[in-house]
Amino acid sequence: MSEAPVIAVDGPSASGKGTIARRVADELDFHYLESGALYRLVALDSLQRGIVSGESLVQCARQLPVSFHNERILLRDQDVSDAIRSEACGVRASEVARVPEVRKALLQRQRAFRMPPGLVADGRDMGTVVFPDAALKVFLTASPEVRAERRYKQLKDKGIDANLRALSRDLQDRDARDANRPVAPLVPAPDSQVLDSSALSIDEVVERILAWWRERSGGARP
Ligand code: CDP
Repeated sequence: MSEAPVIAVDGPSASGKGTIARRVADELDFHYLESGALYRLVALDSLQRGIVSGESLVQCARQLPVSFHNERILLRDQDVSDAIRSEACGVRASEVARVPEVRKALLQRQRAFRMPPGLVADGRDMGTVVFPDAALKVFLTASPEVRAERRYKQLKDKGIDANLRALSRDLQDRDARDANRPVAPLVPAPDSQVLDSSALSIDEVVERILAWWRERSGGARP
């Protein structure tokens, strides 16, 4: 039996991947994987348990006692859906994501989300490492200014305190760390469609991706 199709949506922080990927998954009735949430969960769990590095950190990624309930994420029996969204957690996530053994420990967990009728997966290495056979690969970008403003608004809407200048600096640091790490760096897969969303609305980006998908999947409309 051939495997369920995957649409990979990769890109830098606050490029809109999450919103877009979730919408595309809804439109197609596909499953959805937010791979960044797994790295954020390892970050939060290790912070809470005072684990900094080494084998304990890898064990943390291997054993991550997480369960997903629609929009809510439970770590053990604690609802951490909002806690993992803090900028501090994002920064720590990009640090733990540099550890090759942590990435390896999360690989199977990510691939297990691939189920019929299909999967939309967002992250940094969905099209390059986790699902290299994805049927459609999109690399979503936006200018650093637009991304900093989007993240600022997103945090404010959640009632999380934020400072635009500090956010902008964090995003640039994180971009540099993600793009320059030796393992699974943030780079577009050679066979990906690169889409700059700086001047596009969410609807326009979703429609563009659905159009690509229709071309690939023989014109079937969702
Ligand atoms: O929300 P944002 O785009 O800023 O980040 P995220 O997708 O929640 O991911 C948080 C961090 O996890 C990123 O800065 C990456 O370093 C790391 N990550 C990764 O290395 N590989 C992935 N597939 C997803 C996230």
